[in-house]
Amino acid sequence: MDLPLPNLATGSSATGPVIMALPKGRILKELGPVMARAGIVPSADYRDESSRRLRFETNDPSLDVVRVRSFDVATFVAHGAAQIGVCGADVLMEFDYPEIYAPLDLGIGGCRISVAAPVGMVEAEDGSRRSNITVASKYPGIAQKHYASRGIQAEVVHLNGAMELAPALGLSSVIVDLVDTGSTLRANGLVEIEVIAHVTSRLIVNRTALKTRPEEIGGWIERFRAALAA
Ligand code: PRP
Repeated sequence: MDLPLPNLATGSSATGPVIMALPKGRILKELGPVMARAGIVPSADYRDESSRRLRFETNDPSLDVVRVRSFDVATFVAHGAAQIGVCGADVLMEFDYPEIYAPLDLGIGGCRISVAAPVGMVEAEDGSRRSNITVASKYPGIAQKHYASRGIQAEVVHLNGAMELAPALGLSSVIVDLVDTGSTLRANGLVEIEVIAHVTSRLIVNRTALKTRPEEIGGWIERFRAALAA
């Protein structure tokens, strides 16, 4: 999906520290060792999710990190407000920003985007024998595309969280969501019926920033590449 972006900071500012956008939540812990191997040490309160600060300096004066929601990492980087970032392949699949280049699979944050249905409704919802379906998801684009490719018309209810509630409360017949351990599905009486895609976290960069600050941005890509090889 080609989103028209306002012509604001398109990653072209050649001064000031490089801004790296990192996701809050589960990936933050797994990212720690990769960052350390890349030689990046953010200030101590970066790891403290109760800290209200959003921007943190690092041991390198030419790099600051900002801590935002996973979906927003891609938005900050696509607009060039951050030049580099880490986000899940799920977010890149959903938005498909042309301004983002994703050179490295960091191999962390492994999970999958799946369709889940209420226990007892698995056969009815397997999709093979229906022409339309209602889906609750924070991935409306992925859900639409998935069902369109199967010739099924999907009515997608866009939620930002807690979509596991939707089938039991009559909002949808299935959900499309991230599954890691499966415990959230189990706790809410749902079963995974189809895997749409496997997901890991990617290093992403703003394409314009890579052109205008090639040594700095290219240097960070190489440091992450070396960190993965280490
Ligand atoms: C994700 C996802 C599920 C849960 C799955 O939410 O939306 O709710 O994790 O994990 P599990 O299979 O290990 O139970 P997340 O915790 O990332 O929070 P969010 O709802 O704010 O996106």
